[in-house]
Amino acid sequence: TTKTKIGDFEFENCFMNAAGVYCYDKNELEQVINSQAGTFVTKTATLQSRPGNPEPRYHDTNLGSINSMGLPNLGFDYYLEYLLELQKTHPDRTFFFSLVGMSTEDTHALLKKVQESDFKGITELNLSCPNVPGKPQIAYDLETTEKLLTDIFSYFKKPLGVKLPPYFDIVHFDQAAAVFNKFPLTFINCINSIGNGLVIEDESVVIKPKNGFGGIGGEYIKPTALANVHAFYKRLNPSIKIIGTGGVLTGQDAFEHILCGASMVQIGTTLHKEGPSAFERITNELKAIMDKKGYKTIEDFRGKLKYL
Ligand code: DHB
Repeated sequence: TTKTKIGDFEFENCFMNAAGVYCYDKNELEQVINSQAGTFVTKTATLQSRPGNPEPRYHDTNLGSINSMGLPNLGFDYYLEYLLELQKTHPDRTFFFSLVGMSTEDTHALLKKVQESDFKGITELNLSCPNVPGKPQIAYDLETTEKLLTDIFSYFKKPLGVKLPPYFDIVHFDQAAAVFNKFPLTFINCINSIGNGLVIEDESVVIKPKNGFGGIGGEYIKPTALANVHAFYKRLNPSIKIIGTGGVLTGQDAFEHILCGASMVQIGTTLHKEGPSAFERITNELKAIMDKKGYKTIEDFRGKLKYL
């Protein structure tokens, strides 16, 4: 079985979409619900709906993808209403709601609305959007992040996790983990895209916003994703679960994320390229690896990476 748990919630499968892919509207989210995925996360919602950046703003390459979407989304109320509807039609399932404000004030307004609503799922606060011109990735500023989480946990009592950008320095892993360990986080999600890469084809950039700079996903980013998952697995209180995201093309990639400590595995670029049938393929590939090794559950090997 590839069942898993995050906090007090159980999921039939450890795979789900990564925020931004197959989650813009009810039509896309329903396709994820009806796939082999264990759950979904919504597109990151802002207080007001947003059209996002000018197109083209997403481009697939052989080894992955580049995007600068700019947070196009249908607005907080749309996703909350749908999530509340799903609680009635799928009372046995738990879904994730991704959110971030365009300002600190907006982020608090959004989380207060979630707190006051009947939403019973898990909230993912996105601290790592690299694509809105003029707005830095919040989690690269740990002082701001600590203040934000301190203020949030003064009123927010529902299950909350954070989506993180990749870190690239051991001291930054130490410093970031020390901040996250001060809070009752349900999970952290490593990693968002590697921010602000540049893909060139035929002497030209391939996306329009920011003269071609955008977040990199796919095969390019697996080693960085695995390092972040494992670095935080070794540093965080065990009550803070880890969602592994980045470079999952196959069951073997997912197996590696779980070996590094991930309790749930998200699929972005591969889901965009292949569609929701990717969940069935990758789940079957992971199950075949587990069978061959004699592992019955993901807890049998989660975090058990071997060192030389
Ligand atoms: C977008 C990209 C991200 O990586 C993210 O975390 C949120 C939003 C975007 O461009 O829409």
